[in-house]
Amino acid sequence: MKHILQMKNITKRFPGVVANDQISLDVIEGEIHALVGENGSGKSTLMNVLYGLFHADEGEIYVRGEKTTIDEPRDAINLRIGMVFQHFMLVETLTVAENVILGSEIRRGVRVDYQQAVAEVQRLAEEYGLNVDPQAKIQDISVGQQQRVEILKALYRGAELLILDEPTAVLTPQEVEDLIEVMNNLKAQGTSIIFITHKIKEVLAVSDHVTVLRRGKKIGTKATKDTDERDLAEMMVGRDVLLEVEKTPAQPKAVVFAAKNLAIKDERGSERVRGIDLEVRAGEVLGIAGVEGNGQSQLVEAIAGLMPIHGGTLQLNGRDISRQTPLERKQSGLGYVPEDRHRRGLILDYSVADNLILGFHGQEPFVRYGFIRSDRAIQDYAVKLVESYDVRPPEPQYKAASLSGGNQQKVVVAREFTRTPSFLICAQPTRGVDIGAIEFIHKQIIAQRDQGAAVLLVSAELDEILSLSDRIAVMYNGEIVTTMPAEEATEKKLGFLMLGGQPEDYSDANEGGVLDEVES
Ligand SMILES: Nc1ncnc2c1ncn2[C@@H]1O[C@H](COP(=O)(O)OP(=O)(O)O)[C@@H](O)[C@H]1O
Ligand SMILES: [Mg+2]
Repeated sequence: MKHILQMKNITKRFPGVVANDQISLDVIEGEIHALVGENGSGKSTLMNVLYGLFHADEGEIYVRGEKTTIDEPRDAINLRIGMVFQHFMLVETLTVAENVILGSEIRRGVRVDYQQAVAEVQRLAEEYGLNVDPQAKIQDISVGQQQRVEILKALYRGAELLILDEPTAVLTPQEVEDLIEVMNNLKAQGTSIIFITHKIKEVLAVSDHVTVLRRGKKIGTKATKDTDERDLAEMMVGRDVLLEVEKTPAQPKAVVFAAKNLAIKDERGSERVRGIDLEVRAGEVLGIAGVEGNGQSQLVEAIAGLMPIHGGTLQLNGRDISRQTPLERKQSGLGYVPEDRHRRGLILDYSVADNLILGFHGQEPFVRYGFIRSDRAIQDYAVKLVESYDVRPPEPQYKAASLSGGNQQKVVVAREFTRTPSFLICAQPTRGVDIGAIEFIHKQIIAQRDQGAAVLLVSAELDEILSLSDRIAVMYNGEIVTTMPAEEATEKKLGFLMLGGQPEDYSDANEGGVLDEVES
C-alpha cells in the first residue's frame, strides 16, 4: 500500500479562525479518497494548501514518500497534482482544446500545434469517457461539460493526483452519475482522486476511504465499506442526525392556493412561464422539481408579488391576489422563504431582531399607540424565536451579516413560519445550509403542513423534493410537464423529466444507477 500523498499536522490560521488545526491526510495510490465536512469545516483550505495557493503555518507534505514544499501551483503541477475548483477558470470565448492547452505550451518549450492539441484532447476525452467536443466554445457548452474541460486540463498537464472540490454541487443527477463513471475510469487507470463533497450518498457510491473534518479539525478517516450514512452524518455534525424526514401521510383539505393559466414574462419581455395550472391544498406539500432556469424562480416571485404576471390568475383563499402588493399578500396569509436570502430574505445590515419582524414592524406589539416602537417587545419576541429556531449565536442584537448561511436561513424561516401562514412558499429552503440545520428546517416544514398550511416547495435538490413532498410537479422550459403522487416518483424518473423527457417515454428500465444502490 503506497501513499501518493501524506499531509502531516497541517495548521492554517486566518484572522480569528483556525481553518485547519493539525490536520493529517493520507491518500493511497490509485484510490478515491472522499473529503467531507460541513460548510466552513476547512476542506477547501486544506486543498489550497496542497495546491500551493495557501501557505500552511505548520505541518509537512509528503508526495510519493518524499517530503516536499509546495509554494505555488506550479510546484503542485510539477508534482503531478491537478485541481478542479468550485469556480471554473475557463476563457469563455476560446474553444475547449484551446482552454486545455492554455498555459501549458510555454512549459513544454514548443508552440503546440492546434490540430495536434485537438487530437490529444479527443484522445484523453475518449480514454476517460469525458464526452466533450474539442472545437466547441466554452460559452456554448453546459456547466457539466465545462467541468469536464477542467478535468481534461489537469490530465493534459499530467495529473496523477486529482483534487475535485465539490464537483457535484453544480451538476444534475444524470451528470453526477456520469462524473462518478469518469472517476471510476480514472481510478482504473491509476489516477488517485481526492473527492470533496457533502453528499453522503456520493461518498458511499464512489470512494475507498473517507476523511471527515469538522470545524477545522480532523474527526477521522475510515474505509468506506466500514461506514454508513448515519455514521458519517454523525461524524460531520457531531451528534445523531435524522436523515429521513419523519412524516405521516398528508391529510389534504380545501384548496388554499390556485394559479390558473399563468403566464410570466421577464424584464426583457420573453415568456418564461406559460400555461401553468396549480393547486395547493391545506395540509399538503406540493414539490416542484426542475433544473434551475426553467421558470421556477419567476413562478415563485410572481406568486410573492415581486414580479408581474402577464396572463392568468392567482387565488389565495378564494380571493384574487394578483394585484396585491407583496405586503398585502403577506397579510392575506402568504409566507415566503425566498431562494436568495441575501437579496430577498434579509437586510444584512440590520440586527437579527429587526430581521425577525421585517414586514410586521408596524404592527402590535412591536409598536404601541400605533407609532412608538417597542424595543422591549421586539427583544422579547426575538429572544423567543432565536431560541426555538436554534439560531446560533443566540444573540438578537448581532447583525444578520455576521451569521453563517445556515443560521441566516433559520432567521428567515423563523420569521415566515411564526406567522402561521395559510400558504407557505419555500424556495430552495436549505441551499448552502449544513445537514444539522437541514434536518431542523425540514422538520419545521412538515410541522407547518401538519398545522394545516398549504406548502409549495421549490427545490433543485431531488432528495429534498422526494422526502418532503406529497405530490410532485416537474417544471421544464416554463411549463409543468406532469404532476404525480410522491409514491410514483423516483430520482431517476424526475431527472429524466427535468431534462425534457416526456412522461410516456420513461421506462422503469432506467432505474438502478450507482447512487440508487447505496443503502440508506
Ligand atoms: N481566504 C480566507 N480568508 C479568511 N478566512 C478564510 C479564507 N478561506 C477560508 N476561510 C475560513 O476558513 C474556514 C474554513 O473554510 P473552507 O476551507 O473554505 O471550508 P469548506 O471548504 O470546508 O467549506 C472558514 O471559517 C472560512 O471562513
Ligand atoms: Mg469549500
